[in-house]
Amino acid sequence: MVDEAFPEGFLWGTSTAAHQVEGNNVNSDLWAFEHAPDSVFAEPSGDACDHYRLYRDDIRLLAELGFNAYRFSIEWARVEPEDGFFSRAALRHYADVLDACAEFGLTPVVTLHHFTNPRWVSRLGGWSNSGLPERFAAYVSAVMSELGPRIPYACTINEANIAVILRQVGAPSDGPSMFMNSGSPEALEVIRQAHVAARAAVRKASPSTSVGLTLALQDYQPAAGGEARAAEMWRETFEDFLPAMAEDDFFAVQNYSRVLVGPDGMLPAPEGAELTQMGYEFYPEALANVIRKVAPVGKPILVTENGVAATDDARRVEFVDRALAGVRSCLADGIDVRSYLYWSAFDNFEWVFGYRPTFGLIEVDRRTFERRVKPSARHLGALARASSGR
Ligand code: BGC
Repeated sequence: MVDEAFPEGFLWGTSTAAHQVEGNNVNSDLWAFEHAPDSVFAEPSGDACDHYRLYRDDIRLLAELGFNAYRFSIEWARVEPEDGFFSRAALRHYADVLDACAEFGLTPVVTLHHFTNPRWVSRLGGWSNSGLPERFAAYVSAVMSELGPRIPYACTINEANIAVILRQVGAPSDGPSMFMNSGSPEALEVIRQAHVAARAAVRKASPSTSVGLTLALQDYQPAAGGEARAAEMWRETFEDFLPAMAEDDFFAVQNYSRVLVGPDGMLPAPEGAELTQMGYEFYPEALANVIRKVAPVGKPILVTENGVAATDDARRVEFVDRALAGVRSCLADGIDVRSYLYWSAFDNFEWVFGYRPTFGLIEVDRRTFERRVKPSARHLGALARASSGR
C-alpha cells in the first residue's frame, strides 16, 4: 500500500559526511587537530567506517533497506590536497560513488563542504580569509565540471551558520568552533560569499543541478521574558542568511531539537525531560516547528538532517515516527517538503565527541567494519518503501 501523505518523488534516505565515515582523511585540518598534542577531540577519527573503501556495499545496503536517496559529502581535502592541485583519482572515486547510487537507484544529494578543509586552507587562516570564496569556487568548479550531470542536488556548505550556533551554546572558541570560523560578522560574510560564488560555479558547470544551502536550525521556544532573545537567535541563525540564499533552488533544513530561551539566552531542558546522548532534549516535534517557520522562504524544502543519538534503538524508532508525523502535517498544510534524510546512516565519528554518540541506523564494528542493521533502519526503510512504492 502506498502512503499517500508523501508526494511522488519524495526523497527518503540517510545522510553522511566524508570525514565522519570515510576514514583516513589525512590531508584535512580536522585530522591534524585530532592528532595535535592538546587536542580537544575525545579520540581521532582513524579508519572511521571505512566507507571510502566500502561505499558500494553501503549504498547497496541502503537501497535494499528501501531508501531512494543518499546524501554524502565530497571531501575538499581529497579532491584538492594542495592549493591548485586536483587529484584525478579522488574525483574518479566520487564518480564511482555516484555511479553506485545510480546503479542501486538512490538519488544523490551531494554536499560540497561538510566542516572539513584541506590543511592548506587552515594555513591561510581558514574561513576568516577573504580570499576563500574564490578558492572554494575553484574547487566546486573542478568537482562540478567532472561530476555535475550526475548530481541532481548540490548543497554548497553544510550548516553555514554552525559558528553562530556554537557561539549561542557557549562552545569555547578553540573548541568545536574551529569547524568554520569564529562566527565574527566578517567571517560569516566570507561564508555567505563562498556560498554565492559556489552556487555560480555549480550553475556554470552543471545547469541541470539544483543548488542550495543547509542551515542548522533550532526550534527556539521563548520562556517568560525570552521573546526578544529568541527572535534575535533566530535572526542570526536564519534571517541573516536569507539574502545569500535568495537565488537558491532549494533550502535545506537540519534540526535535532528545541531550545528554550530566557531573557539571557538558552535555558536548560525542562526538569525531568528525556535527554539524548548529546545532552539535547528528546523533542522530535522540533522539526515540523522549524519547517513551518522557514516555509515563507517560498522554496522547496529538503530535510537533509534530523535524527537522534541514542543507545536504545527503540527511542530512535519513536523519534523518527514523531518527526515524520510532523512532516506529514506540514505536507498536509501545503508546505513543499521534498525529502527526509535521517542523520545518520551509520554510527560514525561525531566530531569532538568521537565515537560515543550513536546516531546510526546501522552499527559498525570498528575493528572488522562489519555492518549490523538496527531495527530502526528496517522501520524507516519500510516507511520509505510504503511511500515510494519501491
Ligand atoms: C552535522 C553533522 C553532525 C550532526 C549530529 C550536524 O550538525 O551536520 O555532521 O554529526 O549534526 O551532531
